Amino acid sequence: YYIGVDLGTSAVKLLLMDSKGKIEKIVSKEYPLNFPHPGWSEQNPLDWYEKSMEGLKELTEGIDKSQIGGISFGGQMHGLVILDEKDEVIRPAILWNDGRTGKETDYLNTVVGKEKLSEYTANIAFAGFTAPKILWVKENEPENFARIKKIMLPKDYLAYRLSGTFCSDYSDASGMLLMDVKNKCWSEEMISICGITKEQLPTLFESYDVVGTLKPEVAEELGMTEAVKIIAGAGDNAASAVGTGTVGNNMCNLSLGTSGTIFITSDEFRVDEHNALHSFAHADGKYHLMGCMLSAASCNKWWMEEILQSKDFKGEQEKIENLGENSVFFLPYLMGERSPHNNPKARGTFTGMTMDTKREDMYQAVLEGVAFGLRDSFEVAKKLGIKIERSKITGGGAKSPLWKKIIANVLNVKIDLLESEEGPALGGAILAAVGCGEYKNVEEAAEKMIKVVDTIEPDEELSKKYDERYEKFKTIYPGMIEIFN
Ligand code: XUL
Repeated sequence: YYIGVDLGTSAVKLLLMDSKGKIEKIVSKEYPLNFPHPGWSEQNPLDWYEKSMEGLKELTEGIDKSQIGGISFGGQMHGLVILDEKDEVIRPAILWNDGRTGKETDYLNTVVGKEKLSEYTANIAFAGFTAPKILWVKENEPENFARIKKIMLPKDYLAYRLSGTFCSDYSDASGMLLMDVKNKCWSEEMISICGITKEQLPTLFESYDVVGTLKPEVAEELGMTEAVKIIAGAGDNAASAVGTGTVGNNMCNLSLGTSGTIFITSDEFRVDEHNALHSFAHADGKYHLMGCMLSAASCNKWWMEEILQSKDFKGEQEKIENLGENSVFFLPYLMGERSPHNNPKARGTFTGMTMDTKREDMYQAVLEGVAFGLRDSFEVAKKLGIKIERSKITGGGAKSPLWKKIIANVLNVKIDLLESEEGPALGGAILAAVGCGEYKNVEEAAEKMIKVVDTIEPDEELSKKYDERYEKFKTIYPGMIEIFN
């Protein structure tokens, strides 16, 4: 067996896969997400560990545990986890969708300069990236900063607790703004800019590399053997791409999780000259470009649960009938926005309502607003000469047939549907299988394991209507900037 652990923002999802690639069981455990100030977002790493251990026990109940080969991960990216010399967590993790680092991000982009950052790392600073968070702790919590012995990413905390190895992988570490993505090593310049040392940073591995085995006390608690291998794993977007078979050149995966991402693979290292898309390493040993919206399925959840106070997602979506005919627009920037605006102060907006606007029109605008947000990144990729005709899709939001149809038409791409939409957790299990030698490499594993079962084709007429609506959508944000600031 192989186990994939998807350390998400709302829950940890664990997946048990047999050696033939069959999914045997999935377990999910939620933990709290805290917003201590507007725009801040934190979680307690101890919750991640506790819930993952609970999940691992439940997942492997009743199976022959001596047959477990390896465990690997897909993890929420960019989060800052800091440990002291006793390996105690110094403060709650500051997450990928936390917008507190506006000042530090500006400093990096303007004083250090975007050109230099791009030269050192292949990327510029975004509020959610790890380096600006380190600067924030240095400036605002100097006692905490002085105690830092180890700096790591969320899933790396799990790997560390399970194996004792202080490690990360290239795909996830790409999002720290501390790694030279092209050459896959830590950037001396960024280390010095952040006032840290190389010793405080983890050793880097490929996502499918074995980093260690279960610590004896952990193996005992889990009822597993100490031979169980721990494989480095990947950032959740790279893991998700592995789990949807998005490996190889110029392939695309869309993720509709708490965040919304568009992930485009590339055999060669490449950079978007305007740095609107991130240039990161992929979990298959190659590279990718990515656009990331901070609120995607979370906009859907907010509209339904917070505003309508309902959990009947299906029932509400059934009322939406006139795709392409809506006069209402929604800007999905409930946590600020990363790609392409890079503005933690951006906010959500509804516009275009009339006296006969119904609540389903507003719901439709929410789903369309997220799709238009994805298209913003898609347009950047097009300008780079990248042609995308089809994509995979994953994440909680991908469970909605209506939303998938909207996205296929707004982007005008075919969306290939898979047997299983377990993105990052499946990707983690695949990386574990590759690490344990079950497959030659990630590409071979994906080819053998991922099956397309259906395709959503965009409709020419509807796509045209959405082109027109997208042109209008694009004009809303620039007109709102003064209000957001
Ligand atoms: C990617 C990003 C998000 C998180 C979500 O850059 O910030 O997709 O990884 O978990």
